Amino acid sequence: MIALTFALLFLTLFLFGRGYWRHIALPKLQNQRLALQLVRVKRQGQYLKLWLQHPDGLLLPKAKAGQHILLYGKDLQGKPVSRAYSLAQDCSQQRYYQLVIKAETDGRLSQALFQHLKVGDFIESSYPRGHFLLNRSRQPLVLVAGGVGITPMLAMAYAAIRQKRQVFLVYQARRLDDIVFYPLLRRLPRLQLRIALTQPPTDWQGFKGRIDAGYLYKLAGPQAQYYFCASAKMTEQLIYDLGILGAQHCYAEFFSAAASEQSFPIEINGVFTDSQGHKSVLDAILAARVPLNYDCKGGSCGLCKVRVVQGQYQQVLEPSMSCSADEVLACCIQPTSALVLSAEIEAEKSSAELSSGLIAVATTHT
Ligand code: FES
Repeated sequence: MIALTFALLFLTLFLFGRGYWRHIALPKLQNQRLALQLVRVKRQGQYLKLWLQHPDGLLLPKAKAGQHILLYGKDLQGKPVSRAYSLAQDCSQQRYYQLVIKAETDGRLSQALFQHLKVGDFIESSYPRGHFLLNRSRQPLVLVAGGVGITPMLAMAYAAIRQKRQVFLVYQARRLDDIVFYPLLRRLPRLQLRIALTQPPTDWQGFKGRIDAGYLYKLAGPQAQYYFCASAKMTEQLIYDLGILGAQHCYAEFFSAAASEQSFPIEINGVFTDSQGHKSVLDAILAARVPLNYDCKGGSCGLCKVRVVQGQYQQVLEPSMSCSADEVLACCIQPTSALVLSAEIEAEKSSAELSSGLIAVATTHT
């Protein structure tokens, strides 16, 4: 009996010491950070593929196909910054997270990662999150990806293949070199890959130009599920046209919202701006040089929270966090009437100061 008690005590201490409790205690840990280690990195043109593991080789928190993690790092000026990246992997495994990062010319985190990140570095991330998930169904599935939008689509393709569904992956890109995971996609069993190139090589036998709703509808018909991860303009048009054709199940995740073509006045703390030409209320506010805090521009960090005093708006991006009844994330909305907002402006407050987190991208570069 005493031996059994000691054995149980030893096992408990061992598991806690190894950090297993992190993966058992739910759901508060969803707001905490994971310390991950970069075990492999591969460059493909403007893309960086990362493989991240637990430093002790433990299993990582389970992710669902379509979810993303936030990476916390520092930009080239040393300022804290976080960005959301979709998991590009078979989510039935928990040994690693795989991400694809595009080098954006004005990307604060992506530029720092491209310049400094190397195998062995430690990176902080969130737990997997996000509501862009694959619904269970027996109906055919059409996944439409544009550029780096392939990442959640790849995870969904794995999941759908396991569900033994008919799966089409339609990938829109400029050139063949821009296709991420091309060899892998061609090898995936049961995946019906369709590639559309706007700048095809002369001997290209596949689809040339931009796909349209008629092309998608012909693949799978009205009952199919259509999932999109591509530019806002392309996605909005395809979903609208598919609706006219009779498709009933369309789901989308946007890289960013399309710029507003409508002009609505926005007032924040007595300063006036206008929605026209901006991708979100946040962009309109920043264009008016109001120093509202922000970081991710994707509904993940919560820094751009504002109070709605008056007016109507629509959600153009799905936020990953909740707000109180009269608050909203400015990066996720567009006005549908004149808007009056108020916000606490603390120009120096940063995401690092708002959280109790550790240092983010720990590179060994000097
Ligand atoms: S800027 Fe991060 S939630 Fe709006």
